[in-house]
Amino acid sequence: MVVADVLRCGLFISIPLLQTLWWLFAATFLIECASLFWIPAKEASIPNLVPRNRLESANQLALVTTYGFGAVAAVVFSALSFVNRGLAHEFSFFRTNPVNLALYLDALTFLVSGLTILGLSQLSSAMPRGLEAEGAHQPGLLKSIREGLTFLGGARWLRGLVLGVSGATAAGAAVIGLSRVFADDLQGGNAAYGVLFGTVFVGLASGMFLGPRAIGNFPRRRAVGVAIVCSGIALAIDAVVPNLALAVVMTGVLGFFAGIVWVVALTLVGSEVADELRGRTFAFIYNLMRVVLLVAVAAAPFLAGVIGPHTVTVQRLHVRVDGVTVTLFAAGVLAIAAGVVCLRLMDDRRDVPLRTDVLAALRRRDPEPGRGTRAGYFLALEGGEGAGKSTLARRLADELRSRGYDVVLTFEPGDTAVGARIREVLLDPASAGMTPRTEAVLYAADRAQHVNEVIRPALERNAVVVCDRYVDSSRAYQGGGRDLDDREIAHLSRWATGGLQPDLTVVLDIDPEEGLRRASNVGEGDRLEAEAVEFHRRVRSEFLALARRGRHRYLVVDAADDPDAIFERVLGRLDEEALPDLPAGRTTMTIPLAEVPR
Ligand code: TYD
Repeated sequence: MVVADVLRCGLFISIPLLQTLWWLFAATFLIECASLFWIPAKEASIPNLVPRNRLESANQLALVTTYGFGAVAAVVFSALSFVNRGLAHEFSFFRTNPVNLALYLDALTFLVSGLTILGLSQLSSAMPRGLEAEGAHQPGLLKSIREGLTFLGGARWLRGLVLGVSGATAAGAAVIGLSRVFADDLQGGNAAYGVLFGTVFVGLASGMFLGPRAIGNFPRRRAVGVAIVCSGIALAIDAVVPNLALAVVMTGVLGFFAGIVWVVALTLVGSEVADELRGRTFAFIYNLMRVVLLVAVAAAPFLAGVIGPHTVTVQRLHVRVDGVTVTLFAAGVLAIAAGVVCLRLMDDRRDVPLRTDVLAALRRRDPEPGRGTRAGYFLALEGGEGAGKSTLARRLADELRSRGYDVVLTFEPGDTAVGARIREVLLDPASAGMTPRTEAVLYAADRAQHVNEVIRPALERNAVVVCDRYVDSSRAYQGGGRDLDDREIAHLSRWATGGLQPDLTVVLDIDPEEGLRRASNVGEGDRLEAEAVEFHRRVRSEFLALARRGRHRYLVVDAADDPDAIFERVLGRLDEEALPDLPAGRTTMTIPLAEVPR
């Protein structure tokens, strides 16, 4: 790293000294080569220098300095161009090219970096040896790209993600490559260049920090494609507006959406790619983007130059069609196209119109659950204590089985071997000192196992799953009852279940006092039943609130009604739902069940 830094310092100084175009290209190329050694070396040595428990903060800091400092650099550049103007009056040395000062400063930063690392290397040699091995397994650039292309074949959404992110990166790179000429076209000069360049990074950083909050619960797989399309639109507008102020705004918007694309895409990879592939997937995406970035930064000005300046006359109106406008506009269109394809490949909610999700996000509502592309049918039964869920679940399962469906009747917590042990801990009155957060993660742990071991396999073989309690119980008991933040509980559940949502949730609504009285007749009370009535009231109102927000995917029934009437109502609703095809060779009655005499 020190050698690479000293080389880069020397190369930057050489550019203004030699002042020739071919050397500018050659030096840039060599600087990039040095960086290709420096960056992997840095990534490999971070685990050597940072204690394991602070590795995540270190990575975050690395991201912030990479993207956030683009803005600082832009400000410095703009300032330097003013300083240079002042100096040029006094010294002929500064009259040649106003960019030189920035290049010297650049060289200086590499020197400082090299000296800093030199200091660190003494420190790292004092590190325990075991730690050094970590991070040494990073595959090389080409190898990781080749590897990535092979395992990408399997996952459609991941292909969409990589394609979309590549399109967005190429478009962003075109802006970086052309902003110099673009600023001149807008008669803005160096200061304008600095501002434009900086705005991209200010936008990127704010998209990364504020974006996830800004888009609320908008489904993440759709968010990637939509954000790419938005940044493409911003770029296309940017290309054709002949006004610096508007161009700055649009560049900021472009960066903002690109920032969202990055965080959401990386978070998706972090949470949805299998453990053993995750590291390699990250390496693949980073490396591919580096190549895309380099190629596009270099190709955009070349393309713009080849097209050159033209004027087209449309009905006596002169329209300027210069290379920069055309290239930037084309990059915008490319990003829009990449976004659309990405959206189609990644979409896991084909049955829910995009508009519905956008409106739900604007109103800060939960998105309507979609069926996704999976098979089977997933019914969840929810409600307070003593609502009669288990009885209803059993009757429904029997009925559907008699119709020929493959039915899996299950419950939470505790319907797996691991889950049964978690359940003991959770419900034992002796666990009285358990903190709400502990409780929340234990329920989530049980659920993760349950989804993986029971629910998903059943859905995959096209079965109907009838589940006594699911995610909403956590949101009602831990969120409503224990007062934990609902968004955090929802996030934890999404993480635990990989986003699996029921097709229909039936809420058996019951007055807590009545419910607790019923439950106490059944057997010994568990730890949650023993909570005050007030707790159960909060649980009830949270169930109802969830049902109100998710209207289409909920059915609320009054648990005080006659059990037969409740059963009929739920069956009536199931008749309207798209239950899975029956297993081959099985037949069933064709009359709706509600009419079957019992
Ligand atoms: P269980 O005996 O299955 O109760 P019920 O017959 O009422 O379904 O016990 C489950 C208890 O766990 C119940 O009091 C509700 C509570 N619970 C949560 O607090 N969070 C959750 O996520 C789940 C699934 C259950």
